[in-house]
Amino acid sequence: MSKKILLLNGPNLNLLGTRETNIYGTATLPVIEQKIIDIVQHQQIECEAFQSNSEGGLIDWLHTQQGSDFLILNPGAYTHTSVALRDAVLGINIPFIEVHISNVFKREPFRHHSYFSDIAIGSVIGLGLCGYEVAARYAIDYLQRS
Ligand code: DQA
Repeated sequence: MSKKILLLNGPNLNLLGTRETNIYGTATLPVIEQKIIDIVQHQQIECEAFQSNSEGGLIDWLHTQQGSDFLILNPGAYTHTSVALRDAVLGINIPFIEVHISNVFKREPFRHHSYFSDIAIGSVIGLGLCGYEVAARYAIDYLQRS
């Protein structure tokens, strides 16, 4: 059976392309999602993308994805607040990479703490949209090795 990589984006990331473009750039979320889907599917691996602005929406979607093989996760502001989303990721027991478009360590102190970094395989921070691509390439390599 083919393996499956999930791409999950949290609150306000649906506004990419118009939101604080000096920080997040001008590419839209559908463009980013399609790019990652293309990279992954090129390797005969399944890929599904989802975004929600609500904590419950993100958690409920993750619960429907039990059995998937890898998660690329940008939790948005929930990075800094959500024990519930952390528990959901742990609950479905899926290896994952945390992605942040911006370098959160150059920003406000409340963005310096993440509820995900200590349970992620790794974090890609501050590389802009390339961060998603780096994460996808790692995920492919990880799944081809496992
Ligand atoms: C973000 C960083 C978060 O602090 C912020 O709340 C976001 C986006 C990033 O990708 O840089 O919404 O996760």
